[in-house]
Amino acid sequence: MATIYVITILLNLIYLSYQQQCVISTYEDVDSVVSSCTDIAIDDLIVPASTTLTLNLQEGTTLTLRGNISFGFDNWSGPLVLITGSSLTVIAAPGAVFDGQGERYWDGQGIWGSLKPLLLRIEATNSVFSGINILNCPIRCSRIKDSNNVTISNWNIDNSAGDVDAAQPQNSAQNTEGIQVVTSVGISLLDSQVTNQDDCVAINSGSNVVVSDINCDGSHGLSIGSIGPSGLDADAFDENSIDNVTIKNSALVNGQNGIQIITYVDAPNGLISNVLYENITFEGPNTYGIEIQQNYRNVPPNVTTDPTPVGNVPIVNLTLRNIVGNVAASAVPVCIKCADGACLNFDWHNVTVTGVLPNDCNVNPDGYDC
Ligand SMILES: *[C@@H]1O[C@H](CO)[C@@H](O)[C@H](O)[C@H]1NC(C)=O
Ligand SMILES: *[C@@H]1O[C@H](CO)[C@@H](O)[C@H](O)[C@H]1NC(C)=O
Ligand SMILES: *[C@@H]1O[C@H](CO)[C@@H](O)[C@H](O)[C@H]1NC(C)=O
Ligand SMILES: *[C@@H]1O[C@H](CO)[C@@H](O)[C@H](O)[C@H]1NC(C)=O
Ligand SMILES: *[C@@H]1O[C@H](CO)[C@@H](O)[C@H](O)[C@H]1NC(C)=O
Ligand SMILES: *[C@@H]1O[C@H](CO)[C@@H](O)[C@H](O)[C@H]1NC(C)=O
Ligand SMILES: *[C@@H]1O[C@H](CO)[C@@H](O)[C@H](O)[C@H]1NC(C)=O
Ligand SMILES: *[C@@H]1O[C@H](CO)[C@@H](O)[C@H](O)[C@H]1NC(C)=O
Repeated sequence: MATIYVITILLNLIYLSYQQQCVISTYEDVDSVVSSCTDIAIDDLIVPASTTLTLNLQEGTTLTLRGNISFGFDNWSGPLVLITGSSLTVIAAPGAVFDGQGERYWDGQGIWGSLKPLLLRIEATNSVFSGINILNCPIRCSRIKDSNNVTISNWNIDNSAGDVDAAQPQNSAQNTEGIQVVTSVGISLLDSQVTNQDDCVAINSGSNVVVSDINCDGSHGLSIGSIGPSGLDADAFDENSIDNVTIKNSALVNGQNGIQIITYVDAPNGLISNVLYENITFEGPNTYGIEIQQNYRNVPPNVTTDPTPVGNVPIVNLTLRNIVGNVAASAVPVCIKCADGACLNFDWHNVTVTGVLPNDCNVNPDGYDC
């Protein structure tokens, strides 16, 4: 009996050790581990230049990020990391980080300067990505694309090192969107901190999106869009409609804008519908408090353009509730520039934005005298 018992324990131990996490600690391990394991950890890792850390995970995989995952330098479009799969659980151990080492790329010119890689791209279904830390993105930090039913929670995106240094603006980071959602359905972005130099969150296309409890520092806002022409970014602007988005319980400090919805005059036709912003606060943006503009044009930021709005992407059913903001002296508190008949059912209640400059609107929402 005792012998059988001991053998059973030994077999169990062998089984358990066989079941242990598979660990990726050099780039060469990636393909074999990803194709053979469903419980994976990544330790400190340096990914070779011009190479995507491609994690096409098996269904149901748990991936634990540990240590410092960094990347060789090159002028290319990335992504530095691609995670795909369904029913994934991606978590990070304390201190784990994707370090994009943006300081090697930042030239003050963002998309208009040297080619820079997107850091993290996710294409997933029924999956959760929790606790991920992203440091120093060369350009856009993360993009969730062609995804369905994905929850992002407890992320920290820290691009504070790329903030404009008045003495050295040529070394600043630009176009470092925090979390972009593109052609995706059923996405939740929750309980996260984003410190960056472009949109905190950008919903570029898709539907049934919830954004809640996000703290934004230094950003261009909690944004619907921009909705742009494919020439500007074919990967983000291949579809131009957005429906059913709720952005709530979030706060912004510093940066350019608070709430932002912008469309380019030369974007393919699209529609922005059924968007709710609720319980948002912002303090100190220097350009706009609330910015709704249908007159963007695809030129470098220093070039003046025709301000006439175009109705190629109408905005229908835009509800704002319980919004409190205070803007810097340089900022327009509320700006609405709509093409004729292209902004319908704007229902804004309990919206208070204070500043020094006057508002600048060509449409008056119901419930808010602009
Ligand atoms: C991550 O590793 C890279 C390469 O060794 C290093 O340059 C960078 O400073 C590290 N980042 C962190 C946050 O430790
Ligand atoms: C990257 O692009 C910049 C600006 O175009 C250039 O100065 C630099 O030499 C390039 N670096 C590499 C490794 O190609
Ligand atoms: C969405 O994902 C969650 C978490 O992975 C899962 O519990 C839920 O069943 C999924 N919903 C659908 C409709 O697949
Ligand atoms: C809007 O999106 C939410 C969150 O995904 C979802 O629960 C709700 O059913 C959607 N509403 C419609 C009308 O599709
Ligand atoms: C409003 O949002 C803040 C976070 O910015 C949150 O702490 C607070 O609980 C929210 N209020 C309500 C009524 O949900
Ligand atoms: C505007 O910016 C672009 C890209 O940064 C630069 O090439 C161009 O010289 C600038 N134009 C002016 C008028 O400053
Ligand atoms: C706008 O909201 C109304 C009322 O809820 C709804 O009937 C209509 O379909 C919505 N419009 C769009 C374009 O979704
Ligand atoms: C108006 O909004 C403020 C800030 O979100 C909130 O505290 C207050 O309860 C709201 N008032 C009403 C009547 O909803």
